[in-house]
Amino acid sequence: MSGLPDALVRSFVALPCPPELVSVIAAERAAWRSTGADVRWVDPGSIHLTLRFLGNAGPLRLGRLDRALERTTAAAPPILLRAGATGAFPSWERPRVLWLGLVGEGPLGRLAEAIEADARAAGFDPEERPFHPHLTLGRVRSGRGIRQAVEALRPWTPEVEPEVVEEVVLYRSDLGPGGARYSALARYPLTGKEEA
Ligand code: 2AM
Repeated sequence: MSGLPDALVRSFVALPCPPELVSVIAAERAAWRSTGADVRWVDPGSIHLTLRFLGNAGPLRLGRLDRALERTTAAAPPILLRAGATGAFPSWERPRVLWLGLVGEGPLGRLAEAIEADARAAGFDPEERPFHPHLTLGRVRSGRGIRQAVEALRPWTPEVEPEVVEEVVLYRSDLGPGGARYSALARYPLTGKEEA
C-alpha cells in the first residue's frame, strides 16, 4: 500500500461496523441522547470494532504491518458479526465507556490473534489486555445523568440479523476538541476461504 503517511500517526486496525447495525444504533441513539446524560455518544458513522490499537507509529512499523496485513487478510475469511449485549467498562456501577458486545465466533478471534502477531512482528509492543470485541457507543464525561443513560442502554438488544464484514481497515485517528476523527489509511479485503 503506497498511501501511508511519512510522519508519526496515531492509528488502529478495525472492522467497520456493518451498515444495518449502524442504522439501528443511529436510530437508538436519539433515546440515549434524550436522557441528557453527560456522555459523548459516538457518531454512528465512525463506529468500528477495534482489532488492534497501535498508538503513535512511524512509516517503518506501519509499512511492515501493512505488508503483514495484506498476507493475513488474504488468508482470512469474511467475518459474520452478530450483535450481543451492551456493557460498560469498567463496570455498570462506575461506567467510563458504554459499548455493544459483538460475537464473531472462531474466525473473529483467529483474525484478532493473527493481527496481534503481525503487530508484534512489525515492532509494536504486545497488547496485554484480552481481546474483548465491542463497539464503543459512548464515553462518559461526568456522572451527570449517568443512571438514566445506564437504564436506557443496559436492557437494549439490537434487532438486527448478523452481517458479514469483508474487510479490515487501518484507521488513522486525529484527536481534536470535538473528539477523535477517523480516516481510512488502507483497506484489506478478507479473501480467505472458510475453514471446513
Ligand atoms: P474503545 O472504543 O474501547 O475506546 C480508536 O481510539 C480505537 O482504539 C477505539 O475503538 C478505542 O477503543 C481503541 N483504543 C484507544 N486507546 C486505546 C488504548 N490505549 N488501548 C487499546 N485500545 C485503545
